[in-house]
Amino acid sequence: MLRKKSNKKKRIAILTGGGDCPGLNMAIKAVSQYAMNKYGWEVMGVKNALNGLLDEIKFDGDDADIIPFTPSFSFSEYVRQGGTFLGSFRKLKTKKFKDVKSDEELVEVMFPFFKKHIKELNIDGMIATGGDGTMFMLNFLCEKVKIPFVGIPKTIDNDTPGTEISIGFSSSVDACVNALDSIFWTAKGHRRAIVTQVMGRNTGHLAMHSGVASCADVILTPEIPYTLSGVIKKVKSLKTLEKRDYAVIVVAEGAGLEKGKPLPKNADYTVAEYIAKALDKAGIEARADNLGYIQRGGLPNGYDRMLAAELGVLAVDLMAEGHTAVMAGMKDGKPAKVLLKNVCKKETRGLNLSSPIVKTAKNLGIYIGEKIKK
Ligand code: F6P
Repeated sequence: MLRKKSNKKKRIAILTGGGDCPGLNMAIKAVSQYAMNKYGWEVMGVKNALNGLLDEIKFDGDDADIIPFTPSFSFSEYVRQGGTFLGSFRKLKTKKFKDVKSDEELVEVMFPFFKKHIKELNIDGMIATGGDGTMFMLNFLCEKVKIPFVGIPKTIDNDTPGTEISIGFSSSVDACVNALDSIFWTAKGHRRAIVTQVMGRNTGHLAMHSGVASCADVILTPEIPYTLSGVIKKVKSLKTLEKRDYAVIVVAEGAGLEKGKPLPKNADYTVAEYIAKALDKAGIEARADNLGYIQRGGLPNGYDRMLAAELGVLAVDLMAEGHTAVMAGMKDGKPAKVLLKNVCKKETRGLNLSSPIVKTAKNLGIYIGEKIKK
Protein backbone atom coordinates (compact mmCIF):
# COMPACT_ATOMS: atom_id res chain seq x y z
CA MET A 1 0.00 0.00 0.00
CA LEU A 2 1.31 3.40 -0.98
CA ARG A 3 0.81 4.99 2.37
CA LYS A 4 2.77 2.34 4.26
CA LYS A 5 6.49 2.20 4.00
CA SER A 6 7.72 -1.32 3.46
CA ASN A 7 11.04 -0.58 5.13
CA LYS A 8 13.13 2.19 6.60
CA LYS A 9 13.84 3.82 3.23
CA LYS A 10 13.67 7.61 3.07
CA ARG A 11 10.69 8.73 1.02
CA ILE A 12 10.66 12.07 -0.80
CA ALA A 13 7.99 13.86 -2.80
CA ILE A 14 8.56 15.86 -5.97
CA LEU A 15 6.10 18.37 -7.39
CA THR A 16 6.05 21.12 -9.99
CA GLY A 17 4.49 24.43 -8.91
CA GLY A 18 3.62 27.71 -10.64
CA GLY A 19 3.37 28.23 -14.40
CA ASP A 20 4.66 25.42 -16.59
CA CYS A 21 7.76 25.79 -18.75
CA PRO A 22 9.94 23.58 -20.93
CA GLY A 23 12.40 21.38 -19.05
CA LEU A 24 10.28 20.46 -16.03
CA ASN A 25 9.98 16.82 -17.06
CA MET A 26 13.76 16.45 -17.14
CA ALA A 27 13.93 17.93 -13.63
CA ILE A 28 11.36 15.37 -12.41
CA LYS A 29 13.34 12.57 -14.05
CA ALA A 30 16.70 13.72 -12.68
CA VAL A 31 15.43 14.10 -9.11
CA SER A 32 13.54 10.80 -9.14
CA GLN A 33 16.05 8.55 -10.83
CA TYR A 34 19.05 9.96 -9.01
CA ALA A 35 17.33 9.77 -5.62
CA MET A 36 16.29 6.16 -6.25
CA ASN A 37 19.50 4.95 -7.85
CA LYS A 38 22.15 6.80 -5.88
CA TYR A 39 20.54 6.95 -2.43
CA GLY A 40 17.96 4.16 -2.58
CA TRP A 41 15.15 6.55 -1.60
CA GLU A 42 11.52 6.12 -2.52
CA VAL A 43 10.12 8.93 -4.68
CA MET A 44 6.53 10.01 -5.11
CA GLY A 45 5.41 12.40 -7.81
CA VAL A 46 2.65 14.67 -6.51
CA LYS A 47 0.19 15.71 -9.19
CA ASN A 48 -1.10 19.24 -9.82
CA ALA A 49 1.27 21.07 -7.48
CA LEU A 50 0.03 21.55 -3.95
CA ASN A 51 -3.49 20.60 -5.01
CA GLY A 52 -2.45 16.96 -4.86
CA LEU A 53 -1.84 17.36 -1.13
CA LEU A 54 -4.73 19.48 0.09
CA ASP A 55 -7.90 17.49 -0.52
CA GLU A 56 -8.54 13.78 0.03
CA ILE A 57 -5.79 11.96 -1.84
CA LYS A 58 -6.82 9.74 -4.71
CA PHE A 59 -4.46 6.80 -5.07
CA ASP A 60 -5.87 4.97 -8.06
CA GLY A 61 -7.06 5.61 -11.58
CA ASP A 62 -6.00 8.06 -14.26
CA ASP A 63 -6.69 11.02 -11.98
CA ALA A 64 -4.67 9.68 -9.03
CA ASP A 65 -2.93 12.42 -7.06
CA ILE A 66 0.27 10.46 -6.56
CA ILE A 67 2.61 8.64 -8.92
CA PRO A 68 4.90 6.27 -7.01
CA PHE A 69 8.05 6.18 -9.12
CA THR A 70 10.04 2.97 -9.27
CA PRO A 71 13.46 2.33 -10.83
CA SER A 72 11.68 0.77 -13.82
CA PHE A 73 9.50 3.84 -14.47
CA SER A 74 10.38 5.21 -17.92
CA PHE A 75 10.76 8.96 -18.25
CA SER A 76 12.17 8.78 -21.76
CA GLU A 77 9.09 10.08 -23.58
CA TYR A 78 8.32 12.74 -20.99
CA VAL A 79 11.73 14.43 -21.13
CA ARG A 80 11.10 15.24 -24.77
CA GLN A 81 7.78 16.91 -24.06
CA GLY A 82 6.85 20.42 -23.04
CA GLY A 83 4.92 21.29 -19.88
CA THR A 84 4.98 19.05 -16.83
CA PHE A 85 3.55 15.54 -16.79
CA LEU A 86 2.87 15.97 -13.07
CA GLY A 87 0.65 18.95 -13.87
CA SER A 88 0.69 22.33 -12.22
CA PHE A 89 -1.79 24.92 -11.06
CA ARG A 90 -1.46 28.62 -10.41
CA LYS A 91 -4.47 28.64 -8.15
CA LEU A 92 -5.70 26.13 -5.64
CA LYS A 93 -8.62 24.05 -6.94
CA THR A 94 -10.23 23.77 -3.55
CA LYS A 95 -12.65 26.54 -2.56
CA LYS A 96 -11.63 26.07 1.09
CA PHE A 97 -9.18 28.97 1.01
CA LYS A 98 -10.95 31.33 -1.38
CA ASP A 99 -11.16 34.26 1.04
CA VAL A 100 -7.51 34.24 1.97
CA LYS A 101 -5.74 37.51 1.14
CA SER A 102 -1.97 36.93 1.34
CA ASP A 103 0.53 34.11 0.82
CA GLU A 104 1.38 34.31 4.53
CA GLU A 105 -2.25 33.74 5.52
CA LEU A 106 -2.67 31.04 2.90
CA VAL A 107 0.17 28.90 4.20
CA GLU A 108 -1.22 29.13 7.73
CA VAL A 109 -4.67 27.86 6.69
CA MET A 110 -3.22 25.22 4.39
CA PHE A 111 -0.94 23.83 7.05
CA PRO A 112 -3.30 21.34 8.80
CA PHE A 113 -4.26 19.76 5.45
CA PHE A 114 -0.69 19.63 4.26
CA LYS A 115 0.48 18.10 7.52
CA LYS A 116 -2.22 15.43 7.46
CA HIS A 117 -1.26 14.29 3.97
CA ILE A 118 2.49 14.44 4.51
CA LYS A 119 2.03 12.17 7.53
CA GLU A 120 -0.41 9.91 5.70
CA LEU A 121 2.05 9.47 2.85
CA ASN A 122 5.05 9.10 5.16
CA ILE A 123 6.99 11.75 3.29
CA ASP A 124 10.41 12.59 4.73
CA GLY A 125 11.44 15.41 2.41
CA MET A 126 10.21 17.50 -0.50
CA ILE A 127 11.80 18.79 -3.70
CA ALA A 128 9.86 21.14 -5.96
CA THR A 129 10.38 23.20 -9.06
CA GLY A 130 8.87 26.64 -8.83
CA GLY A 131 9.31 30.36 -8.73
CA ASP A 132 9.98 32.22 -5.52
CA GLY A 133 6.26 32.11 -4.56
CA THR A 134 6.01 28.31 -4.73
CA MET A 135 9.32 27.90 -2.95
CA PHE A 136 8.28 30.29 -0.18
CA MET A 137 5.03 28.41 0.46
CA LEU A 138 6.46 24.92 0.36
CA ASN A 139 9.47 25.82 2.43
CA PHE A 140 7.22 27.38 5.06
CA LEU A 141 4.95 24.33 5.15
CA CYS A 142 7.83 21.84 5.21
CA GLU A 143 9.56 23.75 8.01
CA LYS A 144 6.38 23.54 10.08
CA VAL A 145 6.04 19.79 9.45
CA LYS A 146 9.77 19.43 10.13
CA ILE A 147 10.80 17.88 6.85
CA PRO A 148 13.54 19.28 4.60
CA PHE A 149 12.72 21.29 1.48
CA VAL A 150 14.87 21.94 -1.58
CA GLY A 151 13.69 24.12 -4.48
CA ILE A 152 14.67 24.17 -8.15
CA PRO A 153 14.13 27.48 -10.00
CA LYS A 154 12.01 27.48 -13.14
CA THR A 155 10.42 30.30 -15.09
CA ILE A 156 10.51 31.60 -18.62
CA ASP A 157 10.76 35.08 -17.07
CA ASN A 158 14.21 34.22 -15.65
CA ASP A 159 13.54 36.53 -12.74
CA THR A 160 14.16 34.19 -9.78
CA PRO A 161 16.56 35.87 -7.35
CA GLY A 162 19.70 33.94 -6.38
CA THR A 163 20.26 32.12 -9.66
CA GLU A 164 21.73 33.28 -12.95
CA ILE A 165 19.26 31.25 -14.95
CA SER A 166 16.07 29.32 -14.38
CA ILE A 167 14.78 26.24 -16.19
CA GLY A 168 12.60 27.19 -19.19
CA PHE A 169 14.14 30.54 -20.06
CA SER A 170 16.43 29.32 -22.81
CA SER A 171 13.72 27.30 -24.61
CA SER A 172 11.38 30.25 -24.34
CA VAL A 173 13.98 32.55 -25.91
CA ASP A 174 14.23 30.01 -28.77
CA ALA A 175 10.44 29.97 -29.19
CA CYS A 176 10.34 33.78 -29.29
CA VAL A 177 13.18 33.96 -31.80
CA ASN A 178 11.43 31.45 -34.09
CA ALA A 179 8.21 33.44 -33.90
CA LEU A 180 10.00 36.76 -34.44
CA ASP A 181 11.75 35.31 -37.49
CA SER A 182 8.34 34.50 -39.00
CA ILE A 183 7.03 37.93 -38.08
CA PHE A 184 10.03 39.51 -39.81
CA TRP A 185 8.88 38.19 -43.21
CA THR A 186 5.39 39.61 -42.83
CA ALA A 187 6.85 42.92 -41.66
CA LYS A 188 9.08 42.98 -44.73
CA GLY A 189 6.42 41.74 -47.15
CA HIS A 190 3.90 44.34 -46.04
CA ARG A 191 6.40 47.07 -45.15
CA ARG A 192 5.06 47.35 -41.66
CA ALA A 193 6.39 47.85 -38.19
CA ILE A 194 5.22 44.83 -36.21
CA VAL A 195 5.23 45.29 -32.46
CA THR A 196 5.43 41.90 -30.78
CA GLN A 197 4.68 41.48 -27.10
CA VAL A 198 6.49 38.77 -25.19
CA MET A 199 6.00 37.61 -21.59
CA GLY A 200 8.32 38.28 -18.66
CA ARG A 201 5.96 39.69 -16.04
CA ASN A 202 7.84 42.66 -14.49
CA THR A 203 11.17 41.93 -16.11
CA GLY A 204 12.67 42.20 -19.57
CA HIS A 205 15.04 39.22 -19.81
CA LEU A 206 12.93 37.42 -22.39
CA ALA A 207 12.38 40.56 -24.51
CA MET A 208 16.04 41.60 -24.37
CA HIS A 209 17.52 38.19 -25.20
CA SER A 210 15.03 37.26 -27.90
CA GLY A 211 15.15 40.79 -29.31
CA VAL A 212 18.93 40.78 -29.70
CA ALA A 213 18.91 37.24 -31.12
CA SER A 214 16.25 38.08 -33.68
CA CYS A 215 17.86 41.34 -34.79
CA ALA A 216 15.01 43.52 -33.56
CA ASP A 217 15.16 47.25 -34.22
CA VAL A 218 13.56 48.24 -30.93
CA ILE A 219 13.41 46.34 -27.60
CA LEU A 220 11.34 47.75 -24.75
CA THR A 221 11.54 46.42 -21.21
CA PRO A 222 10.19 47.41 -17.78
CA GLU A 223 13.71 48.21 -16.55
CA ILE A 224 14.49 50.94 -19.10
CA PRO A 225 12.01 53.78 -19.71
CA TYR A 226 11.36 54.74 -23.31
CA THR A 227 9.66 57.51 -25.23
CA LEU A 228 7.24 57.07 -28.10
CA SER A 229 9.21 59.73 -30.00
CA GLY A 230 12.37 57.62 -29.48
CA VAL A 231 10.64 54.56 -30.95
CA ILE A 232 9.25 56.53 -33.90
CA LYS A 233 12.62 58.18 -34.59
CA LYS A 234 14.35 54.81 -34.64
CA VAL A 235 11.83 53.25 -37.04
CA LYS A 236 11.95 56.29 -39.34
CA SER A 237 15.75 56.27 -39.31
CA LEU A 238 15.77 52.79 -40.87
CA LYS A 239 14.55 54.30 -44.15
CA THR A 240 17.57 56.55 -44.50
CA LEU A 241 20.07 54.20 -42.96
CA GLU A 242 19.11 50.81 -44.36
CA LYS A 243 16.63 51.80 -47.08
CA ARG A 244 13.88 49.76 -45.46
CA ASP A 245 10.43 50.72 -44.33
CA TYR A 246 9.67 47.81 -42.06
CA ALA A 247 10.71 47.06 -38.52
CA VAL A 248 10.62 44.38 -35.85
CA ILE A 249 9.84 45.70 -32.39
CA VAL A 250 9.89 43.49 -29.29
CA VAL A 251 8.12 44.65 -26.18
CA ALA A 252 7.98 43.01 -22.78
CA GLU A 253 4.48 42.70 -21.35
CA GLY A 254 5.63 44.70 -18.31
CA ALA A 255 7.21 47.55 -20.27
CA GLY A 256 4.24 49.84 -19.63
CA LEU A 257 3.59 53.18 -21.26
CA GLU A 258 6.23 55.69 -22.26
CA LYS A 259 8.45 57.41 -19.68
CA GLY A 260 8.03 54.60 -17.16
CA LYS A 261 4.29 55.08 -16.67
CA PRO A 262 2.49 51.86 -15.80
CA LEU A 263 -0.24 50.48 -18.02
CA PRO A 264 -3.55 51.38 -16.33
CA LYS A 265 -4.93 48.38 -14.37
CA ASN A 266 -8.14 48.15 -16.38
CA ALA A 267 -6.59 49.00 -19.76
CA ASP A 268 -8.41 47.35 -22.65
CA TYR A 269 -5.26 47.42 -24.78
CA THR A 270 -1.83 45.80 -24.56
CA VAL A 271 1.51 47.58 -24.44
CA ALA A 272 2.14 46.37 -28.00
CA GLU A 273 -1.16 47.88 -29.14
CA TYR A 274 -0.31 51.16 -27.44
CA ILE A 275 2.97 51.41 -29.32
CA ALA A 276 1.52 50.25 -32.64
CA LYS A 277 -1.15 52.94 -32.37
CA ALA A 278 1.47 55.64 -31.76
CA LEU A 279 3.45 54.45 -34.78
CA ASP A 280 0.34 54.44 -36.96
CA LYS A 281 -0.43 57.97 -35.85
CA ALA A 282 3.07 58.99 -36.87
CA GLY A 283 2.43 57.66 -40.40
CA ILE A 284 4.16 54.29 -40.00
CA GLU A 285 1.91 51.34 -40.82
CA ALA A 286 2.04 49.21 -37.72
CA ARG A 287 0.49 46.08 -36.24
CA ALA A 288 0.54 44.62 -32.76
CA ASP A 289 1.06 40.93 -32.03
CA ASN A 290 1.18 38.93 -28.82
CA LEU A 291 3.06 35.62 -28.63
CA GLY A 292 1.12 34.22 -25.67
CA TYR A 293 1.61 30.64 -24.52
CA ILE A 294 3.59 29.46 -27.54
CA GLN A 295 6.58 30.94 -25.70
CA ARG A 296 5.87 28.82 -22.60
CA GLY A 297 4.40 25.55 -23.72
CA GLY A 298 6.97 24.44 -26.28
CA LEU A 299 9.54 21.67 -26.28
CA PRO A 300 12.60 21.89 -24.03
CA ASN A 301 15.80 22.70 -25.90
CA GLY A 302 19.13 21.02 -25.20
CA TYR A 303 20.29 23.66 -22.74
CA ASP A 304 17.16 23.45 -20.59
CA ARG A 305 17.36 19.67 -20.49
CA MET A 306 20.98 19.83 -19.32
CA LEU A 307 20.19 22.56 -16.79
CA ALA A 308 17.21 20.66 -15.42
CA ALA A 309 19.26 17.48 -15.12
CA GLU A 310 22.12 19.25 -13.31
CA LEU A 311 19.85 21.13 -10.92
CA GLY A 312 17.78 18.01 -10.22
CA VAL A 313 20.89 16.06 -9.23
CA LEU A 314 22.18 18.91 -7.08
CA ALA A 315 18.80 19.22 -5.34
CA VAL A 316 18.96 15.55 -4.31
CA ASP A 317 22.59 15.84 -3.16
CA LEU A 318 21.69 18.90 -1.07
CA MET A 319 18.92 16.96 0.61
CA ALA A 320 21.20 13.97 1.16
CA GLU A 321 23.76 16.28 2.79
CA GLY A 322 21.10 17.38 5.26
CA HIS A 323 20.33 20.83 3.85
CA THR A 324 16.91 22.42 3.97
CA ALA A 325 15.50 25.82 3.00
CA VAL A 326 17.84 25.88 0.03
CA MET A 327 17.58 26.09 -3.74
CA ALA A 328 19.69 24.36 -6.39
CA GLY A 329 20.63 27.37 -8.54
CA MET A 330 23.32 28.43 -11.00
CA LYS A 331 26.25 30.62 -10.01
CA ASP A 332 29.17 31.49 -12.28
CA GLY A 333 27.86 28.93 -14.75
CA LYS A 334 27.87 26.09 -12.22
CA PRO A 335 25.17 24.45 -10.10
CA ALA A 336 25.34 25.92 -6.61
CA LYS A 337 23.53 25.88 -3.28
CA VAL A 338 21.52 29.06 -2.63
CA LEU A 339 19.86 29.86 0.68
CA LEU A 340 16.11 30.34 0.25
CA LYS A 341 16.22 33.36 2.51
CA ASN A 342 18.06 35.07 -0.35
CA VAL A 343 15.38 34.04 -2.85
CA CYS A 344 11.91 34.24 -1.31
CA LYS A 345 10.20 37.54 -0.63
CA LYS A 346 13.07 39.35 -2.33
CA GLU A 347 12.65 41.67 -5.27
CA THR A 348 12.47 39.76 -8.53
CA ARG A 349 15.71 39.71 -10.47
CA GLY A 350 15.38 42.33 -13.20
CA LEU A 351 17.65 42.99 -16.14
CA ASN A 352 21.03 44.23 -15.02
CA LEU A 353 21.59 47.39 -17.05
CA SER A 354 25.33 46.81 -17.25
CA SER A 355 24.97 43.15 -18.30
CA PRO A 356 26.58 42.05 -21.57
CA ILE A 357 23.20 41.56 -23.27
CA VAL A 358 22.05 45.12 -22.54
CA LYS A 359 25.43 46.54 -23.58
CA THR A 360 25.32 44.48 -26.75
CA ALA A 361 21.84 45.69 -27.63
CA LYS A 362 23.04 49.28 -27.26
CA ASN A 363 26.22 48.61 -29.22
CA LEU A 364 24.20 47.13 -32.07
CA GLY A 365 22.23 50.36 -32.32
CA ILE A 366 18.94 48.85 -31.14
CA TYR A 367 16.65 51.40 -29.48
CA ILE A 368 16.17 50.10 -25.93
CA GLY A 369 14.90 53.24 -24.24
CA GLU A 370 16.69 56.18 -22.76
CA LYS A 371 17.25 58.39 -19.73
CA ILE A 372 14.09 60.42 -19.34
CA LYS A 373 14.49 64.06 -18.36
CA LYS A 374 12.28 64.88 -15.40
O1 F6P B 1 5.66 33.63 -14.97
C1 F6P B 1 5.51 33.07 -16.22
C2 F6P B 1 4.43 33.78 -16.98
O2 F6P B 1 4.32 33.12 -18.22
C3 F6P B 1 4.61 35.28 -17.16
O3 F6P B 1 5.54 35.57 -18.15
C4 F6P B 1 3.21 35.72 -17.45
O4 F6P B 1 2.99 37.05 -17.07
C5 F6P B 1 2.40 34.80 -16.61
O5 F6P B 1 3.18 33.67 -16.36
C6 F6P B 1 1.11 34.35 -17.23
O6 F6P B 1 0.42 33.65 -16.26
P1 F6P B 1 -0.82 32.70 -16.49
O7 F6P B 1 -0.30 31.31 -16.56
O8 F6P B 1 -1.62 32.88 -15.25
O9 F6P B 1 -1.50 33.14 -17.73
